[in-house]
Amino acid sequence: MAKALQVLRSIGLQTKDFFRLSFNLQRSSYGYRKLHMSSWIQSEHGSRIPSAHIDGKNKWLNLKWDGEQSKNYPYVWLRDNCRCRECYHEIASQKLFQFNDLDIDVEANDIHFTDDGTAVIHFSDGHKGKYPLSFLEGEKFPAFSDPLRQLNKELWGSELQGAIPTFQFSDVMTDDDVLLGWLTVLHTKGIAILQNAGTIPTEVKKIGDRVAYLRATYYGETFQVMSKNDPNSITYTDTAIDFHTDICAMYNQPGMQMLHCIKQSTEGGENQLVDTYKVVEDLKKEEPEVHSILSSTLFEFTDIGTDILNDFHFRSSKPAISYGFEGNINQVSIHFSRHHSMNVPPEQVYPVYSALKVLSRYLYHEENIVRHRLSPGEILCMDNRRLAHARTKYYIDPTIKGVQRQLAGGYMDWDELSSFYRVLLEKKKKNENSN
Ligand SMILES: [Fe+2]
Ligand SMILES: [Zn+2]
Repeated sequence: MAKALQVLRSIGLQTKDFFRLSFNLQRSSYGYRKLHMSSWIQSEHGSRIPSAHIDGKNKWLNLKWDGEQSKNYPYVWLRDNCRCRECYHEIASQKLFQFNDLDIDVEANDIHFTDDGTAVIHFSDGHKGKYPLSFLEGEKFPAFSDPLRQLNKELWGSELQGAIPTFQFSDVMTDDDVLLGWLTVLHTKGIAILQNAGTIPTEVKKIGDRVAYLRATYYGETFQVMSKNDPNSITYTDTAIDFHTDICAMYNQPGMQMLHCIKQSTEGGENQLVDTYKVVEDLKKEEPEVHSILSSTLFEFTDIGTDILNDFHFRSSKPAISYGFEGNINQVSIHFSRHHSMNVPPEQVYPVYSALKVLSRYLYHEENIVRHRLSPGEILCMDNRRLAHARTKYYIDPTIKGVQRQLAGGYMDWDELSSFYRVLLEKKKKNENSN
């Protein structure tokens, strides 16, 4: 390559001329234009130059990078996603033209690559479209480019007992690599413990600030789980709590819950944790009818009361198991102590109760439960759309005055967690490339 460029320069040609020369249009016998170029060529900026075919029959540009499958880019998509300064505001990451002005019948007539790693396409509307090759390389049809899609959910059962992924609170707060690791584990396993966080009840807010912000609910931005005289939830008593996911009464259940142990009781107050995604997979295989009922019956979850912000009366109707557009589990909504209303005729009530009984039996299978009794300074972080959690009763010593068990709680949403995961990953890649 270096030799070829030397020869070109000796006869007065620039690198970009060399690239242009290599892209003479050829008409193939199929009536579409073909452009050829060896894919070993690299631009001066390090982008690999693909071989290119303008396929007028299918109205797409075909690019093939060395050693990879070729990719097709429809003309209309290319024109719509032009990255030139006239069409695209790079800092705002937004288009600068009106969709009404896009001609969906636009044709690509010609393509060449410049030595700074840009594909330049001449369109039939007279526009010269410009595309960094790195941008084109990242796009696929059909596929999305979200890096989070590379992270698979890792289902677990009791084998996670004593092996819940742990991180040091101070590392998560100061080291981007550790924070990325924590976010990765929350995505894949849905559970992590932060250690040595001290016992100041405002630390969960610091985690929210580190990533983005906390998700406030009607219980406040943060909430203190402890026994209260006038509880608006049995969370605020010393009683055992059955398996549930938090805030089912809202359509948008908080994505991640943090429970920071400030004080632990002398006895009881152990958390039981279950990966409901595993339970759902087991039900699908072993109890398909139960799975079908739980994913189609609408339960009405309600939460009524008063908290620091206002009186509240929340209701949402949704199945216990919700699926997303792509057929993946989206969220699990379980609150045995709350859903009393269901949208079924009376003759269907018994089958629904039977299905709930089976779900409850699965949640309490020893092979599905991980138990953890939080120690002061630990923060339990769990995917609230995936993990069902329960609590054993704890003991309050009547001879002792004051709060005997306290957990400081806070929520975050998955949009913010996912956003910061992408930001950190991008930053890490940039650092690796510059080193
Ligand atoms: Fe809870
Ligand atoms: Zn443009």
